[in-house]
Amino acid sequence: MKDGLLFLDTGDLAEIEKYLKLGIVDGVTTNPTIMKACGVTGGFAVIRDRSKAIAEMIGHLPLSLETSSPHGDEQEIIDQARKFASWSPNINIKVTFTDQNGKLFLGVIKKLAKDRIKVNATAMMNAEQCFLAAKAGAAYVSLFAGRIANMGYDPVPVIRQLREWLDVSGLPAQIIAASSREFINIQQWWSAGAHIITVTPNLLKPLDHPYTRDTVAMFERDAADWFPGWLEWKARQKKK
Ligand code: G3P
Repeated sequence: MKDGLLFLDTGDLAEIEKYLKLGIVDGVTTNPTIMKACGVTGGFAVIRDRSKAIAEMIGHLPLSLETSSPHGDEQEIIDQARKFASWSPNINIKVTFTDQNGKLFLGVIKKLAKDRIKVNATAMMNAEQCFLAAKAGAAYVSLFAGRIANMGYDPVPVIRQLREWLDVSGLPAQIIAASSREFINIQQWWSAGAHIITVTPNLLKPLDHPYTRDTVAMFERDAADWFPGWLEWKARQKKK
């Protein structure tokens, strides 16, 4: 399957386990901010242990870990990427499109891809950045669609345009529409052509719908005399 995938944006083991059991998670994505929000702080060993634990828990599914260099140092990112990738075969490496001063990391993406390390090019805000990252060899291109919407632009045509370019060019990169903000983003962005959408566990709350509950209550009422004891059990519940 190449479309209709959901990656869980979290470093929380209990949440990952919960959604894995439901069978709806196709991968996990993290970044330094997500890890910090999940309490994964206190040095590199803590990050390593949590990352390894997530990778093991999700088995063959992909886990994205993000590299970081306060100096914008390409070699530092490459060394980090190699280290992360050595922890488990299902780990892929997030590389931001530039550093915070605008220095391009396309060369890093190219180098890692050449070493057969799967790169998730990230923090991208337009289709052009994503397409160039795909050309450089990224396996995943993360468009921060929610942040684009925050700036007042509609990310839907951006996703559509990017999917068209990737399909026409034959580049194998998969589009990750990231930083989702509302449940409806799932249908909007899949329909626009994103292969994958990242969701926080919180965003999946509308899966529980009051009208579904009402409908199930109707079914249960009408099945109440199917088996001996059900009607009495129901009456006892009502009294409680
Ligand atoms: O995968 C990372 C991305 O989803 C982060 O989103 O909420 O920081 O814009 P956000």
